[in-house]
Amino acid sequence: MPDRPDIAAFKALKGSRKIVCLTAYTAPMAHALDPYCDMLLVGDSLAMVLYGMDGTTGIDLDIMIRHGQAVMRRRQNALVVIDLPAGSYENSPAQALASASRIIAETGADAVKLEGGTDLAPHVKCLVDAGIPVLGHIGLLPQHAVAGTAFRITGRSDAEAQQLQKDADALVSAGAFGIVMEGIIEPVAAQIAATCAIPTIGIGASAACDGQILVTDDMLGLYDRFTPKFVRKFAEFQAEIGTAANAYRHAVIDGTFPTDDHLFWPKKN
Ligand code: KIV
Repeated sequence: MPDRPDIAAFKALKGSRKIVCLTAYTAPMAHALDPYCDMLLVGDSLAMVLYGMDGTTGIDLDIMIRHGQAVMRRRQNALVVIDLPAGSYENSPAQALASASRIIAETGADAVKLEGGTDLAPHVKCLVDAGIPVLGHIGLLPQHAVAGTAFRITGRSDAEAQQLQKDADALVSAGAFGIVMEGIIEPVAAQIAATCAIPTIGIGASAACDGQILVTDDMLGLYDRFTPKFVRKFAEFQAEIGTAANAYRHAVIDGTFPTDDHLFWPKKN
């Protein structure tokens, strides 16, 4: 059996090698990605990627739990973290604890993620005190973005840079085990990564971070609605799917599929 994932081992990767993270929403994707990732995130980006919504806020706790269960069925090595969806945690630490406890109890995942810094530090501390590991998320916060508008990069002004540093410090003090830094300009991300005691996982925040995460469907070329500047497509599977579907269509129409090889009994001549 492979070693069980472990938060301490994840944290120890900081300064040893870059940390590799991707999103996963389904069992087959978790199976395919698990050998290559330190962490799989069941991100609320699934609202846009799987459900075709314009933003991430239309998804609820039940849906996140269903996808978390699917991913956990095929995870072997990677740490699995599940997003607390918008509306399930912001009101109070008690609300965050109730939602996070449900996620952990019903999926068996290792940790939850929530969006916010200084404002959410009491919520993070409450979860950590209850034994639930928390991954923070600062910078560009998709749950706060107005649906349908371009996501805004942060850290350009001194005030923003100082707030981001405060956000990171507050999450460390509250006991988060890592921080996703999204859409932050390179010098600010580099400064936070260098001074932060826990791993920083960048998405659109430069190679200065301790690790990287991408939405898997973006980097596989499966999500066609838009591609952020920070994404590299490592494959073009949307085009591949079209090619395969077209080949299937022709085979069905011209009768070359199915063949005798696909029958359940020997064909009598
Ligand atoms: O929901 C998500 O996929 C995320 C990543 C972009 C970090 O939060």
